[in-house]
Amino acid sequence: MNSSLEISNLSLSIGGSAILRGVDLTIHTQTVSCLMGRNGVGKSTTLKAIMGLLPLDSGTVKFEGQDISRLSTAQRACAGIAYVPQGRDIFPHLTVEENLFIGARAQGIATDPDYLDQVYTLFPIIREFLKRKGGMLSGGQQQQLAIARSLLTRPKLLILDEPTEGIQPNIIDQIGDAIRILRNQLGMGILLVEQYLDFCKELGDEFTILERGSVSAAGPMESLSEKIVKKFLTV
Ligand SMILES: Nc1ncnc2c1ncn2[C@@H]1O[C@H](COP(=O)(O)OP(=O)(O)O)[C@@H](O)[C@H]1O
Ligand SMILES: [Mg+2]
Repeated sequence: MNSSLEISNLSLSIGGSAILRGVDLTIHTQTVSCLMGRNGVGKSTTLKAIMGLLPLDSGTVKFEGQDISRLSTAQRACAGIAYVPQGRDIFPHLTVEENLFIGARAQGIATDPDYLDQVYTLFPIIREFLKRKGGMLSGGQQQQLAIARSLLTRPKLLILDEPTEGIQPNIIDQIGDAIRILRNQLGMGILLVEQYLDFCKELGDEFTILERGSVSAAGPMESLSEKIVKKFLTV
């Protein structure tokens, strides 16, 4: 198993308060890695740090063996990391099609028709609704659109921040299926921030749990015991 992303000893403060305190995290290729923990422990902040959206106090982020800690967010995206933020960021007044291609166009990436077809196969509703306004889609459909958009840059690592939040169960299943296909057929590494425990257990190969900005437990998903769940995840 090759490592895709390696975060070591990441520390970060916002407005003088320490939010991340020495986080270590490795994501392998062809692996779904779940980053878990209660509200406010630093999951989204970790993702923003990986993308270069927040400056680090210390620590390094390596992607495919290269230190990317000093690269801009756009350079990290070009290197092959795609990020779907919490809350999805769809432009409601643009069409689904405009939303879909906006990132790839900004990066000057022409979309290969065969690859685009693969993306539509993952999320058939996107093709069906291309001419609708983004704001007309349901929350779950917007999430699918946000994931589809992030895939157009052909990333090697996909980072998703709570993709199931506020979404109806049938679309959660479709998103789960898509993640499996991306892992199994495209060999992608996937870093999934999730609070929905069953989704993590079904889909995840590995887990890392944060508590107050530090890693409190990590390992293969099979080793996520009831005791750990109670201690670090149950509200
Ligand atoms: N822009 C910000 N300004 C001040 N505090 C912030 C900001 N963003 C996040 N925080 C704080 O950092 C901590 C971690 O936030 P976050 O990473 O969003 O948590 P999670 O995603 O695990 O719910 C929280 O205590 C939150 O209040
Ligand atoms: Mg969050």
